[in-house]
Amino acid sequence: MPSHITHLECTLCGKTYSHREPMRLCPDDGKPLYARYDLQNAAKTLTPDALPGRAANMWRYEEVMPVERPESIITLGEGFTPLFHAGRLGETLRMERLFIKDEGVNPTGSFKARGLSAAVSVAHQLGLKKLTMPSAGNAAGAMSAYAAKAGMEAHVFMPEDAPSANQLECVAYGAQLNLVKGFITDAGKLSGEAAEKHGLFDVSTLREPYRAEGKKTMGYEIVEQLGFEVPDVIVYPTGGGTGIVGIWKALDEMEALGWIGSERPRMVCVQAEGCAPIVTAYREDKEFADPFPDPKTLAAGMRVPAAVGDFLVLRAVRESGGTAVTVDDDSMVTAVSRMAAHEGIFAAPEGGATLAALEQLLKSGEVGRDERVVLLNTGSALKYLDVLGPALAEAGKA
Ligand SMILES: Cc1ncc(COP(=O)(O)O)c(C=O)c1O
Repeated sequence: MPSHITHLECTLCGKTYSHREPMRLCPDDGKPLYARYDLQNAAKTLTPDALPGRAANMWRYEEVMPVERPESIITLGEGFTPLFHAGRLGETLRMERLFIKDEGVNPTGSFKARGLSAAVSVAHQLGLKKLTMPSAGNAAGAMSAYAAKAGMEAHVFMPEDAPSANQLECVAYGAQLNLVKGFITDAGKLSGEAAEKHGLFDVSTLREPYRAEGKKTMGYEIVEQLGFEVPDVIVYPTGGGTGIVGIWKALDEMEALGWIGSERPRMVCVQAEGCAPIVTAYREDKEFADPFPDPKTLAAGMRVPAAVGDFLVLRAVRESGGTAVTVDDDSMVTAVSRMAAHEGIFAAPEGGATLAALEQLLKSGEVGRDERVVLLNTGSALKYLDVLGPALAEAGKA
């Protein structure tokens, strides 16, 4: 079935653009562009009944994916990850309907595989040959892997304190690794300059339209795996925000496809106490977030002091009736070991953060113990052994 993509649309001003040209942010206001589809036509073939025979990866939703020529798809089997019923962990929390979507089993060990499979595939279709990006670590590993598969040149700009597994894998995949003194925002500046200077295409998160398209498939999968029902609550660890806004976009698309009604899960944005620009803006009732000074957390994926899609995350949280909370590094580490010991899932600290946040929200009563809750474990702990190992040892858990 072909893609039913029709155009790109600015998420702030609504201006539309062709998807057949390489595009990044809206040229008018510098905000992210979203891919839009003819969902009425897509609904004719993308039905719940059509899904069981399809490939067990994120391209099973091809009508609402942005690649028009199937031969351009660069896949390593990303997506269709398991949604586990967390029975033992649930018992300790007195919850019967707790689920964990385990993104750690994706190629390259994190949900970043989804976004980069989509972005690299579209870049390949558009004939682009050289890619660059700033990354906290996991996205760079994923881009490097997909670029290798596509035969494209990859340049990555990563803070020098990024987990060593991420640095190593980029080199192994043949990417050019540039370590940066500073934060991901500093890496972003250097990646942008390199793009200008050397004619590279910069696939920074939400600064090009297609990584969100890959990540939205987490939303499609959650609904499909719950028998075409939405959960009450989705808890998401937020850095750049593409994951949470992608899921939110998918829910609107699924309503237009007739898979679900107007019901929505409450979206919970989790950030680290040491880097919480979006939670701060949420608490201060702001539409956009101010940069967070001196960001510090061992969860590299959440060490993002400023995000171009901040207002989209805030919109999703507010429109869904959800909330935005912080957790400290110690509680993330304790949660990682609890998830591992009770469910056999060795989660990235970002995944641990979702469990720590849930515990907080159960205590405050903002989430009920009888509700159906999905935690997103966005990556594997195996990528973080250099930073997580000592923290687990200190907590007496390793
Ligand atoms: C494991 C992990 N979880 C969460 C995030 C944050 O993702 P997003 O940028 O979609 O908010 C990242 C980003 O690097 C990550 O690597």
